[in-house]
Amino acid sequence: MVTDTNKPATNVTVKTRANAASYDIAIGCGLVAAAGAWAARVLPGTPGRAAIISNRKVFGLYGGAVKKGLENAGFEPHVHLIGDGERFKSLRTLESTLGFLSGSKLTRTDSVIALGGGVVGDLAGFAASIYLRGISFLQIPTTLLSMIDSSVGGKTGVNSSFGKNLIGSFYQPHGVLIDTATLATLPAREVTAGFCEAIKQGAIGGRPLLDRTSAILEKLEGDRLKVRLDDYAFSASFSAFLAAQVSFKARIVAGDERESTGKTDARSRKVLNFGHTFGHALEKATNYRYFRHGEAVGHGIRFAAALSKNLELLGQNDVELLNDVVRRAGGLPAVDKIDPGEIFATLQYDKKMINDSLQWVLLERIGKPVIFPHAKIPRAALAASFKQIISG
Ligand code: NAD
Ligand code: GLY
Repeated sequence: MVTDTNKPATNVTVKTRANAASYDIAIGCGLVAAAGAWAARVLPGTPGRAAIISNRKVFGLYGGAVKKGLENAGFEPHVHLIGDGERFKSLRTLESTLGFLSGSKLTRTDSVIALGGGVVGDLAGFAASIYLRGISFLQIPTTLLSMIDSSVGGKTGVNSSFGKNLIGSFYQPHGVLIDTATLATLPAREVTAGFCEAIKQGAIGGRPLLDRTSAILEKLEGDRLKVRLDDYAFSASFSAFLAAQVSFKARIVAGDERESTGKTDARSRKVLNFGHTFGHALEKATNYRYFRHGEAVGHGIRFAAALSKNLELLGQNDVELLNDVVRRAGGLPAVDKIDPGEIFATLQYDKKMINDSLQWVLLERIGKPVIFPHAKIPRAALAASFKQIISG
């Protein structure tokens, strides 16, 4: 495990809900070693019991350092490991986690710390939001996707027999600690999945953010992050890239924390769903077993770009640019064997529906998202867009 605290650290402060609540997002290389001192600084009150929620794999890699740091800072850590994978983001795991918090005698002055990817973060955050009607919560994300997206913005929740992420809450953490060194052990598919979410944010955020994301992918030149993070200059630019990504998401969340149903402008939280309508349909049509979430979003970005072009909203240059950056993020599992009829059938019911009507996030140009009603999209445009993404 790399714990070189001489590597550059970039600290970003995120503001949510028009400054009523704000929290620190610390970004740098080797920060998990200092997690205890950081937790003592960002949590209210004096150090008390801290429930670390993680899974066996991530805790085996980074849990020892986090636990030791917490002990050194005066906390009493209690460790709860959940199963690894989307199917463990469930009501059953939630119940056992709440049982653990209660069994460890956590009180309202204690805290929950999520150490892991989006699955751990979403579940631990939801548990923290409902245990004793809400106790303090910290995020230590360890996947690229969770660093730039799920750990920031306060969406928490679990999956259920009714659907994915349909049960949850908005619950902001007291702080987020992003240690880029943890990415050294991240499997290549997870790196690609994380970059797809970064490209999504670039596509809706504007050229500077997209170009910065593209430049990082260029610098990787197919190398694993592990290799490149040992390079001081790369590590510094990578932290700056994460800071730009996180700041963009934080800005959107600050303006529309609860994704208000009536807000449909280019800065509404809904725009963060760019690439997700088709992405979710792909995940659903393949029973959530074939794609990593970010990979499905990668296809979703290409589909939304093609659809935007077919509806004469977006120019061909921007479509090509997006296709090119997604390609650079890494190979995505093929979609050509999936029946498009099945994919489009899953669009009948989607969490992004407002008043029974599905809304797409499309693009007028990079950085100019537009919310577009499904009812106004001809079936032929959907079919043509599908053909285009499988042929190119
Ligand atoms: P994940 O949490 O399943 O992690 C992916 C895999 O990487 C797991 O096997 C995990 O054990 C492993 N892993 C994590 N960190 C590692 C490390 N440093 N080294 C080696 N292996 C490591 O997947 P994810 O992509 O992080 O998150 C996906 C989840 O996030 C989905 O449930 C999705 O719905 C949710 N999500 C939530 C939001 C939000 O705003 N709350 C946003 C996007 C996605
Ligand atoms: N990942 C979408 C959001 O946070 O709103």
